[in-house]
Amino acid sequence: MMVEKNASGPSIADGTDRLVTLLHNKGADNATAVIEALKKDQVVLLKKLSSSDADVLMNAIANKLGLGDSLQLQAAFASSLGHREKIGNYYMSVNARENYQFVSPHSEGSSFINMQLASFYCYENTTDGGETILLHVNQGAQVWQKLRELVTRGKSQRPLTPPEVKQIKVAFRLNMPADTLKPEDEILSRKMPVPGFELFDVLTKPRKMHSQLLDEDLYAYWDSIDSIDVDSAEEFYRFLIKEGLIKLPANRSDVKTLDTDADRRVRKFGDKYEQLFDRKIIYKMQSGDFVIQNNLSWTHAVNNWTPGSGTRKVAAAFA
Ligand SMILES: [Fe+2]
Repeated sequence: MMVEKNASGPSIADGTDRLVTLLHNKGADNATAVIEALKKDQVVLLKKLSSSDADVLMNAIANKLGLGDSLQLQAAFASSLGHREKIGNYYMSVNARENYQFVSPHSEGSSFINMQLASFYCYENTTDGGETILLHVNQGAQVWQKLRELVTRGKSQRPLTPPEVKQIKVAFRLNMPADTLKPEDEILSRKMPVPGFELFDVLTKPRKMHSQLLDEDLYAYWDSIDSIDVDSAEEFYRFLIKEGLIKLPANRSDVKTLDTDADRRVRKFGDKYEQLFDRKIIYKMQSGDFVIQNNLSWTHAVNNWTPGSGTRKVAAAFA
């Protein structure tokens, strides 16, 4: 294992003061204090929770915010897709990754789903890395003009019946006619799954979505932006080197082998993390830690670790 560090150049401001630790009172109402902190755009940490404490707390927070259905839906949806495994009531395993792979910063999901909350619960984290990295989105960054989100669009050559609109929504995650192909969309692929109805994968300009916690429209660096952004892997790699966090195999690796999303990235948007993000929190979760944050304003990412150095078992819940 080798660690490389290069601290030169601009860096993202430290946001550790935005990470607040709250005491967990068993059997009491912990959700109100958590929501109060979330409304100040803080990231909240509670320590020494059991996994069922985490389930209870997450459910209470989501319900108080009117997001109880969304919490249940996300847990059911993730396990039905088979790429995540449900743990407890609302938490699911994080996506599997290869040795030495990192997960670049993203807000979970896409503008279509607009998930408001992201929470993580740590069972075990004894590796020599695996730090959780939370980067706060800079709403005023110029690069929002250049970034693109991968979204699905439709185009109908005939009027759709109400049952068809419903069917299209479920099958393709598309709200017709709102998600009709737009002149400015860049088409990546097209198919016709229903006679007279075309479906497109397109790159489109990111749009601000409503944050319930902050009661404000925000840009979010959704997974549907990050995972197609070639620069993001390079930038995250550079960030990890700068922070002295990355672990590299003895035979070195190029960024692609370290990147869980290497196969999905299609475009360079020219973004620099120091512009895209204005605050960083680097925190190594410990057994029993519960972390929750606004899923729009804060991205989440994970550093890699040396294979065999320990076990990392962290679960995630979204609403
Ligand atoms: Fe994620």
